Parts: sequence; C-alpha cells; structure tokens
Amino acid sequence: MSIQTKVDNIIKTLGSINIQDFIELSNFDDEGFYNLKNVSKISKNGHFITSPEITPLFGYSLCNQFLQAFKNISKVHLLELGPGNGTLLHDIYKYLSNQNIEITQISILEKSKYFKRKIKDKNLFEINFLNDLSDLKVNSDEILFVYSNEFFDAISSKQYVFENKDFNEIKITKIDNSYTLINESSLLSKFLKDYYSEYDFQNGDILEHSNYLVSLLQDLKSILKNKFFFTATDYGYDKLPKKSTLRLISRHQPVALFDKFDDVDYSFGVNFELIMKTFEKFDPVIISQENLIKTFLPKNFHNNDDTESLKAIEIISGKSFSNMGRLFKNISFYLK
Ligand SMILES: C[S@@+](CC[C@H](N)C(=O)[O-])C[C@H]1O[C@@H](n2cnc3c(N)ncnc32)[C@H](O)[C@@H]1O
Repeated sequence: MSIQTKVDNIIKTLGSINIQDFIELSNFDDEGFYNLKNVSKISKNGHFITSPEITPLFGYSLCNQFLQAFKNISKVHLLELGPGNGTLLHDIYKYLSNQNIEITQISILEKSKYFKRKIKDKNLFEINFLNDLSDLKVNSDEILFVYSNEFFDAISSKQYVFENKDFNEIKITKIDNSYTLINESSLLSKFLKDYYSEYDFQNGDILEHSNYLVSLLQDLKSILKNKFFFTATDYGYDKLPKKSTLRLISRHQPVALFDKFDDVDYSFGVNFELIMKTFEKFDPVIISQENLIKTFLPKNFHNNDDTESLKAIEIISGKSFSNMGRLFKNISFYLK
C-alpha cells in the first residue's frame, strides 16, 4: 500500500494526522523512504548526498578531532548514530586502524531495516546493532567514540503555531479532497510555554519540538559516563528560528509538502541549543563544518595537488554543499 493511501486511511479514521506521525510514516514505514528496497537513497544517483559519501576526508577529520583530544590511546569502541550506507564507519575504521588503534567494538544505532541489512552485508567485522542506547556495553579499558553525520536532522518533530497565547498543533487533513494544514488546540501548550519560556513568541511563530529527541539526548547522557569523545555534524540553528525548518528532498530536488508522498526524504533543522544545554557540564564546542575541516583535516591532506581532493574539500567545507553553505555545524565534547 502506498504511503499516500496509508495517510488517507489515517485521515479517514482519525480526522487528521500530525506532522511528526506523517513524517515517521513517510520515512520509516516498510514502504517509507528509508526502508524502500532497491532504491538508492544517499548517493549521487539517489536522493541526496552527504559529506561521507563525497569523500573519506570528512571521516578522517572527525578522527583527527578525536585524536587531538585523546593522545596515545589503544582501544576504541565506535558508536555511530544513523550510519546510513555505513561509509563513514568504514572511513573511520580504516583511519584509526592505520594509526595502530585497536577497534575493540562497533555499535550502531540505525532504525532503517534497509541500511541495517546493507551494513551487515558490507562489513566483515562484527557489529552490535542496538535497538536502544541503553543496550550499549562499554568495557572499562575502552574509550567510547560517539559520532554522527546528519543523524539528528532525520529525527522528526511536531510543529506548533503560537496563537492567542497558546501553542496549537499543526496537523494535516483533507478538505474537498485537497490536503490542508489545520491548527488544533494541544494539551502540551502549557508544557511548551514553560519549556521554551526564555523565548518571546508572537502570533504566527512556529515551534518545532520532539519529545523523542529530548529522550534520546537523555539516553545519550546516561551512556556518556566514562572516557568518551562525542562529535555530531548536522545542519541546524543555535537559536529557535520560530519558523518551519522542514525540508523535503526527492532526487536531489526540493519538493513542496503534498507535491508527492512516496520516495521523499523529510528532515528538520537541528536544535543545537538543546544539545548544548543537555550536555553543558562537558562544555560542548560548536563550530561550522567549514572550520571543522579547516582545523581537523589531517595535515598530510592539506598540501594536496589532486584536483579531485581539492574539490571534495571545498564541497565539504560548505562552500557549495546542497545550497546549505554554512548552516552545517559540528558539536563536540568529551570526558577524559
Ligand atoms: C540523513 S541520513 C544520514 C546517513 C549517514 N550518516 C550519512 O551521513 O550519509 C539519516 C540516518 O539516520 C537514521 N535514523 C533516522 N532516525 C533514526 C532513529 N530514530 N534511530 C536510528 N537511526 C535513525 C536513518 O535511517 C539514516 O540512516
């Protein structure tokens, strides 16, 4: 059954579907974008491209960022969040192994059955596929290296609009056979006003909030107890933009909501302020992806004459990356 038929059935039964449920269905249903079989997703021939799919230099820069903080290490446990094709995992494994660092365990949090299968088929080494972060088992002699690229932007949010001192939830319904957005009063309005109390909302402002993201960050916090390094790169904002950050991409082209229902990737701008606040005791640092590459690209790749590599470095530095330029940021923190 197509995604559109499933959406129509929900609207027929419940009257409407909220934005988060709509996107979860579109991304992660068996027929959803991330589970569709035999459809290339993250590649030049797929729907969008990510830094690790452009060049291994992105992964090498993350390794170097980690190794600048942790010198003389021997055993590392890799934990990747949302690895997709598994290309970054491969690059990081290769770089660290070449530095004579032993990768003692590899753990992965990946929701898509399609990508899990792909990673299983591609890799010779054993991988712990986690259903939940609390399943992670770190040995006392391991340093946990947690990293992600464009993982948090794939986590869907609900959307609310501020109207007459309350947050109303934005939902999708059908009127006269056309899809329409409607605003419904929400029991979460008071909670949201308290949670975002330092912001001054005006009528018409939009708030994106995901309980799932809040609890995922808490789960992460509870596993970051001993020696670890965390680095996440994503596109997002430091202050709430108070407008929709929802993006729809199909075959490298932006599409509008309801233009098409199948074979579309949905993503949101990431709330870096929330991540920063959750982990403030570790003094997180946020830098642009451009600075990440400038600062941490290993020295031996700096004076490169190879035009392919130079072009790749320029792209992942954000100069011409999916029109998103400097919106890509990196957050990192650690405990020694
Ligand atoms: C935009 S893709 C990025 C993939 C890869 N990191 C890259 O840079 O090419 C987002 C990835 O996060 C995964 N993902 C999204 N939500 C997830 C969740 N709640 N739990 C685990 N994985 C999730 C998706 O299946 C996908 O692999």
